[in-house]
Amino acid sequence: MADKPWSGRFTKATDALVEVFSASLDVDARLYREDIEASASHARMLASQGLISQDEAQAIVEGLEAIGRDIESGVFTFDIALEDVHMNIETELTRRIGEAGKKLHTARSRNDQVATDVRLAVRNALGGIASELRGFMGAVLDKADAHVDTIVPGMTHLQHAQPVSLAHHLLAYFEMALRDCGRIADCLKRVNVSPLGSAALAGTPHPIDRETTARELGFTGPARNSMDAVSDRDFACEAAFVCSLVMMHLSRLCEEVIIWNSQPFSFITLPDSLCTGSSIMPQKKNPDVAELVRGKTGGVYGSLMSLLVMMKGLPLAYNRDMQEDKKPLFEALETTGSCVRVMTLLVAGMEPRKDAIDASLQDGFITATDLADYLTARGMPFREAHRVTGEIVAVVAGRRGKRLKDLSLEELRAFSPLFEEDIFSALEPESSVDRRTSFGGTARRNVRAALQEARVLLDALGHET
Ligand code: ARG
Repeated sequence: MADKPWSGRFTKATDALVEVFSASLDVDARLYREDIEASASHARMLASQGLISQDEAQAIVEGLEAIGRDIESGVFTFDIALEDVHMNIETELTRRIGEAGKKLHTARSRNDQVATDVRLAVRNALGGIASELRGFMGAVLDKADAHVDTIVPGMTHLQHAQPVSLAHHLLAYFEMALRDCGRIADCLKRVNVSPLGSAALAGTPHPIDRETTARELGFTGPARNSMDAVSDRDFACEAAFVCSLVMMHLSRLCEEVIIWNSQPFSFITLPDSLCTGSSIMPQKKNPDVAELVRGKTGGVYGSLMSLLVMMKGLPLAYNRDMQEDKKPLFEALETTGSCVRVMTLLVAGMEPRKDAIDASLQDGFITATDLADYLTARGMPFREAHRVTGEIVAVVAGRRGKRLKDLSLEELRAFSPLFEEDIFSALEPESSVDRRTSFGGTARRNVRAALQEARVLLDALGHET
C-alpha cells in the first residue's frame, strides 16, 4: 500500500483483482529503454534549470542506467502492484538512491511520460520497418532485373488480359513499397514531437526547458499544446494505418504467390526453406509464409480499428482507456516489420517456371487487344476495331483449341481488308509487350529504364535516413 505513489490520498489497498486488471506491465515493460532515456534527459534538464542539484541529477542518471542494465540482463523483477514500467523504474530508483529519486517526477506526470516513451518507441519501430522495406525493395529489383525478358500473362479479373514483362509486374510492388516508405517518413514528422514537460495536462509552474529535452531525445521540438500532447494518439493511429497499407501491399503479393504456386498455374517454385509440408499428404509443399502474411494482415487492420475506436469517445485530456493503445500499436509495428522481412526472403527465393508460363501464353486470346490496336493503327476507329476483334475471337473460340494466330490471312481479311502478313508477328507476346512504349508501359526498353530509375530512387531512400 505504501508502495503506491498515490498512497497519501488512499486509506485502503487496491483490490487484488483490480491490481492485476489495471496493470499494463505485460505490454509496456518493453518501453524501459525509452523510459530511462527520457527520464535521464528530464533529470539533466531539471538540474540545469536549478530545480534539482547536479549531484542529484547524476545520482538519478546513474541509478537509471544501472536499472537499465539489470532489466537487460534479466535480474530486475517487475512488480505488478506498480502497474506499469514507469512506476516500476521510478520506485526502484528511489529504493536504490533514496531522496534524489523522489525528485525525478518534478514537473512531469506519467501522462507526458508515457506519451513521450511511446513516441520514441514508434519512431524506432517505423525506422526499422523503413529499413526492412528497403531490403524488400532491393530483393524486388534483383528479381525484376533477372526477369525483364520473362513474359507473363498480365491479368484483370484473374483472367488473361495482356502480356507483360514479369519485371514490370514486380516493379509495381516496388512502387507500392516506395510510397509506403514515403508514408513512413511523413508519419515520422508528426510522431517526432516531444510531449515531455506537458505534465498531467496543463503544463507546470516550474521553470523547465522543454526545448532542451526535446532536442536531446532527437525530437524536432516540444509539442505546442500540453493538453493535446498528453491526450492525442493520432500518431499511433497513423502508424497503424501506415502498417496496414504495407500489409495490404504484401498481402496482395502473397495472394499472387499463392496463385502462381498452385498446380493449375505452376508459374513459380518456392524454395523448401520457405514452405512447409503436410502431416498426412506426403506430396504437399505449401506456401505457408505467403498465407501467414496474408492472414496477419487482418490482425494489423484490427489494430488500426482498435486504436480508432478507442480514441473516438475520449474527452480531453488523458483517460485510462489510452493505456489500451500499446498492445495493438506494438503488435501492428512488430507484425509488419517481421512480415516485410520474411517477404524479402520469399521474393528472393521464388523462381519463375518458364515452361508453364510460356504454355499459358499460348492458350487463348491474350493478344486480342493487339489485333484491335493493329486495325486502329491502320485507320479503323478503335470502337469498330474492338467489335471486329470480338467477332474474330468468337469465331476462333468456336473452333475447339484454335488460337488467334491459327487463322489464315484470308480468314482475317474476311473481317477486314486492313490485315496484312505482319499481323502474325503483332500477335506474338514479345512484340505485344515491346510495342507498349507509352510512359509507364511494359515495353522491355521502358522496363530496363524503369529498373535503373528504381535503383536510383532506392539509393536515395537509403541516404535520407
Ligand atoms: N500506464 C499508463 C498508460 O499507459 C500510464 C499513464 C497513467 N496515467 C494515469 N493518469 N493513470 O496510459
